[in-house]
Amino acid sequence: MPFNKPINRIAIVGTGLIGGSWAALYLAHGFDVVATDPAPGAEEKLRHYVDTAWEELSVLGLAPKASKNRLSFTLDMKAAVSGADFIQENGPERQDFKIKLFADIDAAAPVDSIIASSSSGLTVSVMQSACKHPERCVIGHPFNPPHVIPLVEVVGGEKTSAEAIAQAISFYSSIGKKPIHLRKEVVGHVANRLQAALYREVVHLIEQGVLDVADSDTAVCWGPGLRWGVMGPNLLFHLGGGPDGIRHFMDHLSGPVASWWKDLGTITEFSPAVKQTIIEGALQEAGNRTIEQLEHERDEVLLGLLKLRNKQGKAFPVVKKVAKAK
Ligand SMILES: NC(=O)c1ccc[n+]([C@@H]2O[C@H](COP(=O)([O-])OP(=O)(O)OC[C@H]3O[C@@H](n4cnc5c(N)ncnc54)[C@H](O)[C@@H]3O)[C@@H](O)[C@H]2O)c1
Repeated sequence: MPFNKPINRIAIVGTGLIGGSWAALYLAHGFDVVATDPAPGAEEKLRHYVDTAWEELSVLGLAPKASKNRLSFTLDMKAAVSGADFIQENGPERQDFKIKLFADIDAAAPVDSIIASSSSGLTVSVMQSACKHPERCVIGHPFNPPHVIPLVEVVGGEKTSAEAIAQAISFYSSIGKKPIHLRKEVVGHVANRLQAALYREVVHLIEQGVLDVADSDTAVCWGPGLRWGVMGPNLLFHLGGGPDGIRHFMDHLSGPVASWWKDLGTITEFSPAVKQTIIEGALQEAGNRTIEQLEHERDEVLLGLLKLRNKQGKAFPVVKKVAKAK
């Protein structure tokens, strides 16, 4: 199967936090979006989410054909996917549930449509196991919220075709996402593993009394984290090697880095005490700011960074022509 048909119509299966965000992103890129979710009040919640996200998307730039009016909603999942060129699945994260949902989507969707799952932790080999056309199933795992954060991790399963993976990557790239191709299925994909690896050391340092919670956040977000929002660790270490770049870094600093690895924490669970310390510390840091206010603070800075990077032509998105919000 070539998997090269043009993508015009996108189905969103499951319109919770992640599905709502994907829906807003695809609408902002001028696609027709048909969404489905059996929860009572799902359509109303989705439309409210899209209205809120639209403000952020307008800052980043809307495609000429972008319109919230291109969103339709149906309770009939089969009807939603039957005319879709690309399906983004965002149902509850339960293995048995996803296997059945994938089989149902597969039975109703055109055989040359891609079915991409947002699943954070399940493998596509498992999810595609009851499909008649498993070759078009991929993971398209976003980082929350998908309408703001460009990264999307694309992984195929045992029965996924190379063409389907290529089509998914090319589609995500065409809308300004930053897809990466994971050549092997690994638990938690990659971005969550990276977060988990860093967080293990954060928790270890708090547990050892090296840092309090607020200082551990400062250490990440005003130091390495600030740089990581611009360049990845390999390219940054190319700069860390001075004029001779990464070669000098490897000669000079790879030994010390490896010696620190030997001393890193190896905890595999949160003790009740450290959980309590982190809860108290994070609440103290938040002070009287609500979750909503903190989200706003986070998104304001993120949007500023993305806009700056767009200007340099190095990141999100997106669409070259900016249209007025409708
Ligand atoms: N929350 C995150 O930070 C995050 C990040 C990346 C990926 N994901 C993944 O995205 C997926 C969705 O997570 P979420 O956080 O949006 O969860 P959520 O609970 O907010 O949304 C799940 C939605 O699926 C709906 N649903 C239930 N049965 C359904 C069915 N038969 N057909 C269609 N929809 C159905 C529910 O009504 C709900 O609205 C999960 O696979 C999760 O692993 C989550």
